[in-house]
Amino acid sequence: MCGIVGYIGNSQCFPVLIKGLHRLEYRGYDSAGVAILNQNNELNLYKTRGKVADLENFCQSKEIAGSIGIAHTRWATHGEPNDINAHPHMSADGNIAIVHNGTIENYNVLKQALTKHGCEFKSETDTEVLVQLIQYVKETNNCTLIEAVTEALSQVVGAYAIAVVDRDTPDTIIAARKSSPLVIGIGEDATYLASDATPIIDYTDKVVYLNDDEIAIIKKNEPLRVITSDNEPSNIDIKTLKLSVSQLEKGGYPHFMLKEIFEQTSTIEDSIRGRVVNNHIQLSGVNENSEKFASADRIIIVACGTSWHAGLIGKRLLQDIARVPVEVEYASEFRYSNPVITSRDIVIAISQSGETADTLAAISLAKEKGAFVYGICNVVGSSIARATDSGTYIHVGPEIGVASTKAFTGQVTVLTMLALAIGQLRKTVTPDTLVRVTSAIEMLPALIKETLGLNKAIEKLSNTYTYVHNFLYLGRGYNYPSALEGALKLKEISYIHAEGYPAAEMKHGPIALIDHELPTVVIAPMDELHDKIISNIQQVKARGGSVIAIVTKGDKAIKEIADHVLEIPKIPECLSPIIVSIPLQLLAYHIAVKKGCNVDMPRNLAKSVTVE
Ligand code: M6R
Repeated sequence: MCGIVGYIGNSQCFPVLIKGLHRLEYRGYDSAGVAILNQNNELNLYKTRGKVADLENFCQSKEIAGSIGIAHTRWATHGEPNDINAHPHMSADGNIAIVHNGTIENYNVLKQALTKHGCEFKSETDTEVLVQLIQYVKETNNCTLIEAVTEALSQVVGAYAIAVVDRDTPDTIIAARKSSPLVIGIGEDATYLASDATPIIDYTDKVVYLNDDEIAIIKKNEPLRVITSDNEPSNIDIKTLKLSVSQLEKGGYPHFMLKEIFEQTSTIEDSIRGRVVNNHIQLSGVNENSEKFASADRIIIVACGTSWHAGLIGKRLLQDIARVPVEVEYASEFRYSNPVITSRDIVIAISQSGETADTLAAISLAKEKGAFVYGICNVVGSSIARATDSGTYIHVGPEIGVASTKAFTGQVTVLTMLALAIGQLRKTVTPDTLVRVTSAIEMLPALIKETLGLNKAIEKLSNTYTYVHNFLYLGRGYNYPSALEGALKLKEISYIHAEGYPAAEMKHGPIALIDHELPTVVIAPMDELHDKIISNIQQVKARGGSVIAIVTKGDKAIKEIADHVLEIPKIPECLSPIIVSIPLQLLAYHIAVKKGCNVDMPRNLAKSVTVE
């Protein structure tokens, strides 16, 4: 949560900072701010509640000149989203400004100690405590900014990515990270820093990913220096980004979410590329660790949100195809559940962003206990990708809409290939299944394209359901997690309460909710449980509920009883969650747009949840 941008160079920093904040707005959009050091050594700070566009308006008549600056877009943790709690925060003497992503867990203890020394605080944030601490250390130890930052951070418990500027060293930005991401861009005559590479790609493709407990000393027109918290020089590993600016733009679509839904024909192709060869799966992460995968006793999947739903589908895939026992845990619960893990377990961590704090914590616990940890991430070079022993990228490109769409289908595609690859190793997958499923995987881009043809019909259908207050989503087998995912998509962007249930569980409680005001989305492709799900639809209809059914093309039985049917192409059952997710995403999208909701930036949410 929260996005940080920094610039130091020979040009004006404000446009770079604002453009960068727009790119990072997916990380939080409660408030935004900038601090700029100008030629006269004045430190100008502007911040406001609201989005980056509000900050731009606010700054219109302000003094924004300067070639060193730091900026922030906030997702509130400590203190409500208002002007005062917005970042940057300033030391009491007005000399030092800081932006911070993360949470200082012991901020209260530090605040009390600083208060005893006479410090006064303006905001309710943990971040202001850190900047006051830096000033206090600098004054009392009579030391440099870098020494003060190092000392202050040694007193901090928690997670941080920070950038600090100081009027006493007007040619320097100090940056540091622990458990929150920070990337430094090395340009020809400027250095950039940001929470991810998207604000940097316009200017340079050369980046350095800061590691935990590293501190970067970024000086104007000087090479980057990185030290550890013990003041040892760190190795600077410059990487080349494989990211294009066009991937970060809407490309003519009204929202990123719609663009990302429509991109799925090509993103799935990217997920598959080079991995399905002559009806066999080639995953380098599995090939390089074949011993581990062949002999594992158990797989535990850890993830959050949509990635957790992908994990539930992964469980079915791995059990059916690779015949390995699988457990799926919310990362946030796993880390506090005193789990029994051995070195014969494989932990698979799934994360689009690769920065989710709970998933990262689950990974370190699993590693501590000796498990082999495999990552399924989208963002290349992200913290989770680096913290895991091995893994497979989903390669769907930057996902900017807060509601995850193309990442979900990419995750399920990779999980299918992973199950097949492990099945090959463990000899649990028959040649027939291998041919049938790999052939269908190769067909996915075309099948997704066909399914996207439902867009107009779903847009029309959404008119009927714009103003309902509750929705029920039902699915069975592979598509029970699809029901959870469909409900999550709707609630996060339209604010309509929605619940996903295994269809047969409905009679154990939720059936009481059904009346003419509660629509039910039933995910009912032609599969083993098709007849059973027809009975579930009958039960809803018998109680006056309306039914939107997602069915396989030509399904006459359900067409006769459902109020609306959305037809998808025929696909093997294990791949059906990928195809059914398309109408579910479109339904949530169109309802939210009709309601006038901001689908790309829904209230209270952030794309990357880097706090507990
Ligand atoms: O980046 P991650 O996949 O680790 O994120 C996990 C969840 O925060 C994420 O899937 C969230 O639930 C999305 N908003 C769902 O659309």
